[in-house]
Amino acid sequence: MAEKVTISVIKADVGSVCGHTRPHPSMIEKCKETLADAAKQGIIEDFYVTRVGDDINLFMSHYKGENNAEVHKLGWDAFTEATKLAKQMKLYGAGQDILTDAFSGNIKGAGPGSAEMSFEERPAEPVIFFMADKTEPSAYSLPLSRIYLDPFTTTGLVIDAKAKKGFDVEIHDVLDHKKVVMSSPEETLSILSLLGDTSRYAIKRITSRAGIGPACVVSTDKLNLTAGKYVGKDDPVCVCRAQSGLPSVGEYLQVFMNTMLVAGWMRGSHYGAWYPCSPDNSDPTYFDGPPRICALGFQMCNGRFQGLEKYGTVGDHVPMDFFKGAEWDYVRQRAVKASKFMRSMGPFMPAILGPEEMEYTSRPAVLNELKQRLEDLD
Ligand code: 13P
Ligand code: 13P
Ligand code: MG
Ligand code: MG
Repeated sequence: MAEKVTISVIKADVGSVCGHTRPHPSMIEKCKETLADAAKQGIIEDFYVTRVGDDINLFMSHYKGENNAEVHKLGWDAFTEATKLAKQMKLYGAGQDILTDAFSGNIKGAGPGSAEMSFEERPAEPVIFFMADKTEPSAYSLPLSRIYLDPFTTTGLVIDAKAKKGFDVEIHDVLDHKKVVMSSPEETLSILSLLGDTSRYAIKRITSRAGIGPACVVSTDKLNLTAGKYVGKDDPVCVCRAQSGLPSVGEYLQVFMNTMLVAGWMRGSHYGAWYPCSPDNSDPTYFDGPPRICALGFQMCNGRFQGLEKYGTVGDHVPMDFFKGAEWDYVRQRAVKASKFMRSMGPFMPAILGPEEMEYTSRPAVLNELKQRLEDLD
């Protein structure tokens, strides 16, 4: 049996220029240097450093498996080094997602988000990295449901014999810290009955039932719960393998032509429409949004990322940038229109999130002030 390659994405917001916008270029450079050193030392095979909005994303590949302390420490080191620069420049939210003073063996619970998958590399192995800013992990539940559960969206579920065998969906209850694996197509309607509640349930992982292994994995570390207090929405990544028994690249991308409202946006407390774009166009400029979604693609090649750059390059990659093109202008305009409509509702639900999901609230203080004046109804 071939050795399994592991893709680890570790991401964090450790500071940005003028509000929650974009990390300083020197922070990205520092992360690249840290990972380049690690690749030279053989800790990882390959890497790519990018960002969406104010979140830095480290894509890493290696043969050390998931939850490897050395690989996680590398993510931790890159982000603590970038934090030092952010603090020196007094950037906004410097060190925002660094929640502990010291690394204790695993990045989970330390603040940064992570998504990892290990698999036997197929003869051709296309991988898509979705990265989102100003939203939460359950934002992926709607598009992933359409991609993996809906034959009217993914024709491959009908005409590809391996895809037709279905998928196992691992769902997390992010409030009660519980998980369950459910199978499509048999349990599709029950799966949707859970996932429709985006305040509690999120897809963590989807696995092929045709023996291809993991199909996708989402970062679900909810920062507000990890920290015991709210410290920022957990702007999530989702890593997907594509083609031959899995949804094709085009089947993954097409669902983003739909306008979808997601929780997050300004102060992590509003619904706004997802705006697909290139990382270069991911600065949140309208009411700290609208929430961004980027999609970058590579082929895996003997444990390394192969994009449009020269064969054999390590680190300095040129991925496919799927949401860059003009065909996405259509949905970008609709996202702005839908977001503007939501803004017309001001601080009223459903423009703002339900009380249990608000990142900020002045209500306890208001109720406290009113203590003497509150009367029972007749
Ligand atoms: P090609 O015939 O161009 O390889 O495309 C097949 C396919 O699956 C497209 O989604
Ligand atoms: P981030 O989670 O991207 O840091 O944004 C927080 C926020 O409050 C935006 O208004
Ligand atoms: Mg921020
Ligand atoms: Mg962010």
